[in-house]
Amino acid sequence: MFKKRIRTDKLPQHIAFIMDGNGRWAKERLLPRSAGHTAGVYALKRVIQSAYELGIRCVTFYAFSTENWKRPKEEIDALFDIFRNFLRENREEYLKKDIKLVILGDMSRFPDDIRRQVEEIGEKTKDCGRLAVSIAFNYGSRDEIMMAARKLCQNGLEFTEENFRRCLYTRDIPDPDIIVRTSGEMRLSNFLLYQAAYSELFFVKKYWPDFGYNDLVDIINRFSKRNRRFGSV
Ligand code: FPP
Repeated sequence: MFKKRIRTDKLPQHIAFIMDGNGRWAKERLLPRSAGHTAGVYALKRVIQSAYELGIRCVTFYAFSTENWKRPKEEIDALFDIFRNFLRENREEYLKKDIKLVILGDMSRFPDDIRRQVEEIGEKTKDCGRLAVSIAFNYGSRDEIMMAARKLCQNGLEFTEENFRRCLYTRDIPDPDIIVRTSGEMRLSNFLLYQAAYSELFFVKKYWPDFGYNDLVDIINRFSKRNRRFGSV
């Protein structure tokens, strides 16, 4: 494969992905929706490997939202199976490659075996420093903000931005410099609403299963040309 070149030394620290279009990708091929999600995991693994090679420090993937419970049970089951297999297959590799796994979301609805795997890998890889891979699963930004506010009150903490941030699922990762959404849709769909305050947004027409290394490089090159002012002049 011809690999595009990064034309900047100004790399983003954190890129987050809304992996949209798996269902449409599958429909176009007369396949069940779950086949789109399976193809989506290959794309996710490609992007993790690409970020690793490029020296990005943190990537986040929106895999299952608090609203996705409205989907048919068989699709939900397929997504949990994909999650389970992903954890099993990558346990050893992450440790070897110095990759930390972070889960964002309400784990109380996870099956016990998945929760155990998440806790085990999280503990084993907690000091890994080359790349942080966050998977947002049963994640919703409004839910996260409410949860954090509740935690602040319950723990009697002073209502400061620093304390509030410590109560978010994202307490251990920086705000995203870039949020990418595939499939041509242009919205955030309850993803990292608090953390996205100064994120640069990129909307890509491709469906998520077709997204890869060169698309990521394109986005990083375009990002390097944006003028980020953070409210200044
Ligand atoms: C949105 O596309 C995609 C999802 C709701 C699920 C994304 C999940 C994966 C790619 C796999 C998860 C991976 C791990 C490691 C847990 P859609 O289904 O809404 O597509 P559509 O808009 O075309 O119907």
